[in-house]
Amino acid sequence: MRVTFNANGRPVEADDVWEGESLLFMLRERLGLPGSKNACEQGECGSCTVYLDGAPVCSCLVAAGQVQDREVRTVEGLADDESGLDPVQQAFIDAGAVQCGFCTPGLLVQTHDLLEREPQPSDSDIREALSGNLCRCTGYEKIMDAVRLASARKCSDASEVSQ
Ligand code: FES
Repeated sequence: MRVTFNANGRPVEADDVWEGESLLFMLRERLGLPGSKNACEQGECGSCTVYLDGAPVCSCLVAAGQVQDREVRTVEGLADDESGLDPVQQAFIDAGAVQCGFCTPGLLVQTHDLLEREPQPSDSDIREALSGNLCRCTGYEKIMDAVRLASARKCSDASEVSQ
């Protein structure tokens, strides 16, 4: 079957998609978007998190055919051609929150979503939002630091704009 949808703001199509193929497989293997990582394939680790119509989902649990005519945004789509990395991506780098990096794409999408909904999250908000994203390397403290840093920068940018 052919699946046509928007990926990161651009129309795309994938041919010969088989029944049962996941969105994650289609993104990585057919559309050249390998940012979303393939780990547990059971929706447990969060490394494949992408936006589907603006809501974060585990792309390993979404059938490719379900995204027909819908909007998908992957970690690649967080960066902007003009302004470069998203502030969340830059904060993860600056806070040293990336080690092997396998969990990072999912954490970035989930953090991006959190800060869109709650620009100044409490530590408990952050823990709850990221509870479905497993990291084997960092011990999570650097990740917490990165989210706090991204939040502080976004809020300071917003106050500069409003002045
Ligand atoms: Fe390695 Fe998180 S940085 S799993």
